[in-house]
Amino acid sequence: MPNLDGKVALITGAGGMRGVGRATVMKLAGQGADIALSDVHRQASDLPPAEVRNEWGGIETVSQEVQAQGRRALPIYCDLSDPREIEHLVEQTMSQFGRIDILVNNARAIIGKDKVPVTQLEKEVWDHFLAINTTAVFLTTKAVAPYMIDSGRGGRIINIASNAGKQASANGAAYSASKFAVVGLTQATAMDLAPYNITVNAVCPGPINTDRMSYWERDQAQERGISQEEFRSQVVGSAAQNTPLGRIAESQDVANMVAFLAGDDASFITGQSYNVNGGQLFH
Ligand SMILES: NC(=O)c1ccc[n+]([C@@H]2O[C@H](COP(=O)([O-])OP(=O)(O)OC[C@H]3O[C@@H](n4cnc5c(N)ncnc54)[C@H](O)[C@@H]3O)[C@@H](O)[C@H]2O)c1
Repeated sequence: MPNLDGKVALITGAGGMRGVGRATVMKLAGQGADIALSDVHRQASDLPPAEVRNEWGGIETVSQEVQAQGRRALPIYCDLSDPREIEHLVEQTMSQFGRIDILVNNARAIIGKDKVPVTQLEKEVWDHFLAINTTAVFLTTKAVAPYMIDSGRGGRIINIASNAGKQASANGAAYSASKFAVVGLTQATAMDLAPYNITVNAVCPGPINTDRMSYWERDQAQERGISQEEFRSQVVGSAAQNTPLGRIAESQDVANMVAFLAGDDASFITGQSYNVNGGQLFH
């Protein structure tokens, strides 16, 4: 089991109750890392129904969970569409912990408004997807890597991409373009940072059993006269049927790959984009 004692991880998009971010935070904290965890302030209308029902406390609650494991936690609100907030995110992490060993770029733009044919895709939606899913990954990397370089200890950068970063589907222009870009960014960054013993890899999940907010799922549920959660469970069921291993991924499946890439056993791996998809896609 990887030992991350004494290491500090910075993880974006960490406030969702059932998201990959929270699972990753808890996995890395369980292996000894202290965690700076970030998310945007979300309006109630942008929250999944289960988070509203449970009065979920986002990164504040996840921080308490980390502390309950005996690790240090720093919750930081950051809107990744604002480059100054990204700089502030990294500065706050450095001033609290004095080091960043692991960066996990996990956040993404709230999905749904992008799920239209390219001819109907609003430029604002395209710009927002590229800003959060791609440009923010570049900017956090640009802000964190110099500290990793100066430390002389190397580091790990792990970008959460997607199946959609290797194979696009209809109504997915903005999302796929943003995630294909992450795969390319991962490769180029790996080359640039290899001399400093900083590895850079991506994880490409297939569908995951999260209760993330999706405007498309909310609209589809309304059209069918069912709840958003009922519609979501239909989506999850059909994803399981389309997966060779017969189930949809859990957030934990993705967190396990992140933990591997963050650990000593992955020290000779860089520039790769690993699928975690139950056999849905092979390249
Ligand atoms: N859920 C899936 O089925 C799936 C499939 C393939 C890949 N992925 C990828 O896995 C990662 C995690 O997925 P998830 O379903 O847990 O994510 P999610 O949709 O719940 O969103 C992740 C987080 O990003 C945050 N975020 C949104 N806008 C932001 C902004 N402007 N600034 C800062 N943070 C912002 C959200 O608040 C949320 O906590 C994402 O990169 C996603 O693209 C997810």
